Amino acid sequence: MTEKPRFDEVGPNANAVRAMFADVAPRYDRMNRTLSAGVDVLWRRHTVRRVLAGQNRRLRVLDVCSGTGDLALALARAGCDVVGTDFCAEMLERAMTKRREATNDVRFLAADTQRLPFDDGEFDVATVAFGIRNVHDPRVGLADMRRVVKPGGRVFVLEFSKPKTRLVGPAYLWYFRKVLPRLGRILAPATRRHEAYDYLPESVLRFPEREEFVRLMQDAGLEDARFEPLTFGIASLYEGRKPIG
Ligand SMILES: C[S@@+](CC[C@H](N)C(=O)[O-])C[C@H]1O[C@@H](n2cnc3c(N)ncnc32)[C@H](O)[C@@H]1O
Repeated sequence: MTEKPRFDEVGPNANAVRAMFADVAPRYDRMNRTLSAGVDVLWRRHTVRRVLAGQNRRLRVLDVCSGTGDLALALARAGCDVVGTDFCAEMLERAMTKRREATNDVRFLAADTQRLPFDDGEFDVATVAFGIRNVHDPRVGLADMRRVVKPGGRVFVLEFSKPKTRLVGPAYLWYFRKVLPRLGRILAPATRRHEAYDYLPESVLRFPEREEFVRLMQDAGLEDARFEPLTFGIASLYEGRKPIG
């Protein structure tokens, strides 16, 4: 088992992030469904609806940090032509197994979100779900997502955020800081796998507030950048557009 990813002033250590996801890959989907009580599925479904809204042609979509492929597969099932990328082979293996059972309209390949192996403007849309928080420098990742979409193309980011309502906010922080790491120790006591449960709250709490992330999107050259809070703001869906001119 690997060390919990440490953060420098930019973000988490990429090799440690990759090793951690390689380790949790066999349990990743189950862990997600349990910790979010299944709501993560609804958030991805909502993202697909936003991607498709007002579009009347088949979209070519790149889903980065695709992991076990849930968003990529949902987009493909909704009629998009999808490429899913991730830098963790073990996560992608899961995605490929699920693809064989679901649809052929998606291709998975290994790639670093900070150095995407695609030409400028190859895609109509780029998406990332619960991934940008794990990229060492999210600004570099956002800039490369922007690069590979066409002028006028859109970038969507689904990510955890901190709820601000008076009731849910403190309860959520308590769950994240106190309950989740303990849950990890109970679920994985004999190994150091519980470190993934320490990393998750740390990475979410370190992630920029919504308005600050919108500014990062603008700095990456995306216009009309905005966010939509989901489920009391536990997650947020960000959207921005690559300028035409
Ligand atoms: C929390 S998982 C999200 C997976 C999936 N998108 C989902 O919605 O469940 C984060 C993923 O980001 C990937 N990742 C982190 N940094 C990356 C990078 N620089 N390039 C490619 N993948 C990266 C990890 O390997 C992991 O599979």
